[in-house]
Order: sequence, then structure tokens, then C-alpha cells
Amino acid sequence: MTKKLKVGVLISGRGTNLQALLDACADPAFPAGIALVISNVAGAAGLERADAAGVPTLVISHKDFPSRETFDARMDAALRAAGIELVCLAGFMRLLSDGFVTGWRGKMINIHPSLLPSFKGMHTHAQALAAGVEQHGCTVHYVTPALDDGPIIAQAAVPVLAGDTEETLAARVLEAEHRLYPEALKLVAQGKAGTDQSDYLNRRGAEAQKQRED
Ligand code: GAR
Repeated sequence: MTKKLKVGVLISGRGTNLQALLDACADPAFPAGIALVISNVAGAAGLERADAAGVPTLVISHKDFPSRETFDARMDAALRAAGIELVCLAGFMRLLSDGFVTGWRGKMINIHPSLLPSFKGMHTHAQALAAGVEQHGCTVHYVTPALDDGPIIAQAAVPVLAGDTEETLAARVLEAEHRLYPEALKLVAQGKAGTDQSDYLNRRGAEAQKQRED
């Protein structure tokens, strides 16, 4: 079997996307494995999920550091010491310094609960409802210094239904996230998702073509 890509996951909370990644990585045929989970929040529920899967965890609290840069440097050192090759942000709710992002450029991906470039930042479901869109969804993308802005790897759309609240819409998007993140990680681990945005556009075009032919 070929070597699995060594993944580190950064979380801040409940870790349902982490769980989806852990479940996918449990398959011996999956091309990536999670070697470290770091939470910036002690007691985050996601830490228990990693423990249950036998994955090493670290709590690095941003509150223990005088600056964003020193906090990020500690995370960077831990990831490098563990031999991490790709970082997955999964509900990691801290802005990262430019230095950290640059150091992991092309080797760090994030899941965001909207169809980027629409609805960057926080409260994406409320933003989508306020805008009156018919479709909402989620995006996995490479992380660049600009917020929620890097090259897209994969997207999944869900309908916005009459009577949706922020909660019902968030739940529908979250289900899509749990399918999308493992798919996107697989593409990256297989070397099929480059950081050049034309890669994604070509893949999408090929999928659309295949659907027309089926
Ligand atoms: C997910 O919906 C994820 O897309 C979002 O936080 C949630 C984490 O849930 N991330 C962001 O908003 C990042 N900008 P989880 O801890 O259950 O995976």
C-alpha cells in the first residue's frame, strides 16, 4: 500500500467535521491518516473524538501566549515535530498569522459553511437567509492570508427551503460538510487538487460533462 498523507487537524469545538475525517481515515484504503489533533480550547468535545480514535491530541491555548505570532509558532512547532504534511482546519475559530499561513501555503485546507465566494466570515447561514438565496452550501479550500479566499478544492450545495431558520439551514449544510470534507481530503492526498484554481474549474467541467452524458 502507498504511504498515507500525514494530516494534522486544528479544532476549537465540537469536532463533527473532525469525526467525518477520522471515520474516512479509518478505512485502510483512504490515502490520508490523522496523526495529530490540536485544539486551542481545553475541553473541546472534538478532543474526545480524537482520543476515541486513538489519535494523539494537544491543547495549545491561545490565552497562554502574548501574541498571535507566538501562539502560531507553538502550533507550527508541534505540527512539524509530528511530521505533519497537511493541516486541516475543522471549525478552528482563530485567525492565523500571515507567517503561519505562508509557512503552510498549499499544505493547509479549511472547510467553510458557505458557497464561497459568497458569505465569508461568521454567521454564514444568517447571511444566506438575509440574502434570500435559493442555494447555500459549503466549500473546502486552500488557506491563503485573505480570509475565506483561497483556491477552491470542492463545494457542495444544498437548497434553502421555505421556513428555514438559521438552525435548520445549518444542520442541512453540516450534513453536506461531513460528506464534502473527506472527499476533498482524498483529492488532495491523491494529488488531484492543485492550488491552481483552473484545476477545480476543469474538474467541475468534467463532472458536468459526465452528468450530461449519463
Ligand atoms: C463547521 O460548520 C465549519 O464549517 C465551521 O465551523 C463549524 C465547526 O463544526 N467553520 C467555520 O465557520 C470556519 N470559518 P464542527 O466543530 O462540528 O466541525
